[in-house]
Amino acid sequence: MNCEEIYKSKVILAKEAIKKIKSGDRVVIGHAVGEPTSIIEEMVAHKDNYHDVEIVHMVAMGKADYAKVGMEKYFRHNSIFVGGTTRDAVNSGRGDFTPCFFTEVPRLFRENLSVDVALVQVSTPDEHGYCSYGVSNDYTKPAAECAKIVIAEVNDKMPRTMGNSFIHISDIDYIVESSHPIIELKPAKIGEVEKAIGENCASLIENGSTLQLGIGAIPDAVLLFLKDKKDLGIHSEMISDGVVELVESGVITNKAKTLHHGKIVVTFLMGTKKLYDFANNNPMLEMYPVDYVNDPTVIMKNNKMVSINSCVQVDLMGQVASESIGLKQISGVGGQVDFVRGANMCKNGKSIMAMPSTASKGKVSKIVPLLDQGAAVTTSRNDIDYIVTEFGVANLRGKTLKDRARALINIAHPNFKESLIEEFEKRFQGKF
Ligand code: COA
Repeated sequence: MNCEEIYKSKVILAKEAIKKIKSGDRVVIGHAVGEPTSIIEEMVAHKDNYHDVEIVHMVAMGKADYAKVGMEKYFRHNSIFVGGTTRDAVNSGRGDFTPCFFTEVPRLFRENLSVDVALVQVSTPDEHGYCSYGVSNDYTKPAAECAKIVIAEVNDKMPRTMGNSFIHISDIDYIVESSHPIIELKPAKIGEVEKAIGENCASLIENGSTLQLGIGAIPDAVLLFLKDKKDLGIHSEMISDGVVELVESGVITNKAKTLHHGKIVVTFLMGTKKLYDFANNNPMLEMYPVDYVNDPTVIMKNNKMVSINSCVQVDLMGQVASESIGLKQISGVGGQVDFVRGANMCKNGKSIMAMPSTASKGKVSKIVPLLDQGAAVTTSRNDIDYIVTEFGVANLRGKTLKDRARALINIAHPNFKESLIEEFEKRFQGKF
C-alpha cells in the first residue's frame, strides 16, 4: 500500500475510535494546546460506555470535562500537573496527582505507567506519510511510542513543526479527521509590578544568553525589557507569542548558541495563532521530546543559559514552593527544576526565580519565615540561585543562611519587612 492507501485504511469516525478505549484502560492525552479535542469530547459524551478509565495528562488546556463532578464513576483522573481546569478535582479527592519532573515523564510511561491508549493530535501527513506533532511534542510523542493503541486526530489546522517532531501514519492505529483552530492562550495582563520584575530580570541577562522562559505575565514582562539586547537564543520547555516579536525585531537570533546553533529549541508551544503561524514549517524552530529538551545535561551545553521561572513562596533559607500553597496543589513542578539544574550546571549560567513580593491582593508576603505547613519544596535551597521581586534581586548562591535571609528580606514588600526582621533576629539570635 502507498501512503495514501495506508492513511485511508485507518480513517474512522470519532464515535468509532472511542470504542477502542476499554473500561480499566490507562489513556494518555496529548499535552496542553495539543490535546485532541474532538476525540475527547466524543469520549466524554459516551461516558456511560466506561468505568474506571484512567486519564493521565499534564496541563489540560481544553474543557477537561472528564474531571468534572459526577465523572469519577467513569473516569479516574490522574494528573502530573494541576491547572485551572483540574485543581478542584485533585484537591477535592476526585482526582489524583502524580509528582514527576517533566523531563522524566516519558520514562514514567516507559517504566511505571504503561499506556493502553494514547490520544494525540497531529498535522496532516506529508508526501512521505509523516504527520507532525505540531504544538505539542513533549511527552505526547514518547507516550504514543509506547502505547498499545494510538488514536490520532489529524487536524488540518495543526502547524507542521520541525525537529524530531513526527509520527509516520503506519505507527498510528486509528485516524480521526478534524478541522478546527488550535486552542489559544491569550497573553497575560502585565501590570506595574510585573514590569518592575521584568526589568530586574532583564538586568541579569547578558547579550548572547540562551533563555528558558516559563508561562504567564512575568516571562512576558521580561521579554518587554530585552529589546536592546543582542543575539539572544532560546532553549526552553515552551514559548509564547512574546518570543515571536523578539525574533522579528532581530533580538533573538540564536547565533550565539553553542547547542543547536541558529535554532529555537522547545518541547511545546502555547500562545495564539500568531505563534502557531510562526512555527508552521519554520526551520528556525525545532521541537524535540521533553526527555531531550528538559534534560539538565543537555540544557547545560548552551552558552550562558538563563532560566526564568516563578513560584508561590520562598522561605528565608531559599527553599522554593512553586506547586502548592500548604497542602493545596495548585500546579506542578513542570520543567522548573530541570531548567534550574541545567542553568546551574552551565558555565556562566544563571537560574532566576521571579515573583511578585505579595499575593492575595497584597495581604500576604511571598517571602516567609517558613513555608506553609504541608507545602512541597519544588526547588531546594541547594539549587536556588537568584530570587527576583519588584523590589530587586537577591543572589543566594554561596551565601550563608543568615546572609540569604538578609538578601531576601531586602527584596520583600515594605509592609512585611518589620515582621520578617523580627523573625530573623529570633532565629539567628542577633541583629539584622
Ligand atoms: N499565598 C496564597 N496564595 C497565593 C500565593 C501565596 N504565597 N502565591 C500565589 N497564590 C495564589 C494567587 O493569588 C492565585 O490565586 P487565584 O488563582 O485565586 O488568583 C494562585 O495562587 C496562582 O498564583 P499566580 O501568582 O496568579 O500564578 P501564576 O500564573 O503567576 O503562576 C506559578 C505561578 C508558581 C503557579 C507557576 O509559575 C507554576 O506553576 N510554576 C511551577 C511550574 C514551572 O515553573 N514550570 C516551568 C515553566 S513552564
